[in-house]
Amino acid sequence: MQIIETIAGLRKRLENERTVAFVPTMGNLHEGHLQLMRGARKHAGCVVASIFVNPLQFGPTEDYDRYPRTLKEDCKKLEGLVDAVFAPSVSEMYPEKQTVYIELPGIASELCGAARPGHFRGMATVVLKLLNIVQPHTALFGKKDYQQLHIIRRMTRELNLPIEIVGCETARAADGLALSSRNQYLTDAERAEAPFLYQTLQTLRERMLDGDRDIEKFERQAVETLTSRGWRVDYVAIRNQSDLMKADSQHLVILAAATLGRTRLLDNVELDLA
Ligand code: PAF
Repeated sequence: MQIIETIAGLRKRLENERTVAFVPTMGNLHEGHLQLMRGARKHAGCVVASIFVNPLQFGPTEDYDRYPRTLKEDCKKLEGLVDAVFAPSVSEMYPEKQTVYIELPGIASELCGAARPGHFRGMATVVLKLLNIVQPHTALFGKKDYQQLHIIRRMTRELNLPIEIVGCETARAADGLALSSRNQYLTDAERAEAPFLYQTLQTLRERMLDGDRDIEKFERQAVETLTSRGWRVDYVAIRNQSDLMKADSQHLVILAAATLGRTRLLDNVELDLA
């Protein structure tokens, strides 16, 4: 496994590869990331992971500075799973001030986009840069970041990128908590409470499957319950899987984002009514 810090070095390493699968990450890797790497191996002869904490996708009051940077440990975990790790510096990715950004559809300003203005614009811009640098045949992303995956799929489709985007199931701890690099910010008490987010989504899912379809009531009740237990809720929303708009199809997803202490957690569950 090679660790490569420059764009030129990565292009040289990949020039003779016939098929490349790519997993972009911000590092601090956990089992969820490693599952993506294992999945990538099924799609191509060469697997590339990137590790880059992208300043463009963090707001001014967010955790860019304290985001865990653990390159050495990450590379140990990737040994044997990937062929190359692309770990550029900020100046390699942004040698000059980035002035060209991806303009995104309205959905990027809803849900997480409403709570984190500019986040998806910065995310999509770096993902497009990374896809242009790596030029993979396939790129894999976790479904935990459901809205991110949706935006990347749309960007890839609408900009005619010749890349297959694969969404992979969320990896969970034994108690259901979705694995995330940010879970390590949780105190012990918060860690004990954290699986309640997933339990809330599962309860909504079961009630919808039992035939009650009062979406607004479910969303409101879930927010009230979480708030009463000390969560600061950005949203609980039931939307179409296909476009993340108002739920008017049989294939739905229940999404939530809420903060415990100083840790913002995301989760979602899919729900097929047909
Ligand atoms: O999901 C992430 O880790 C990041 O948003 C990504 C896709 C690597 C872009 O920085």
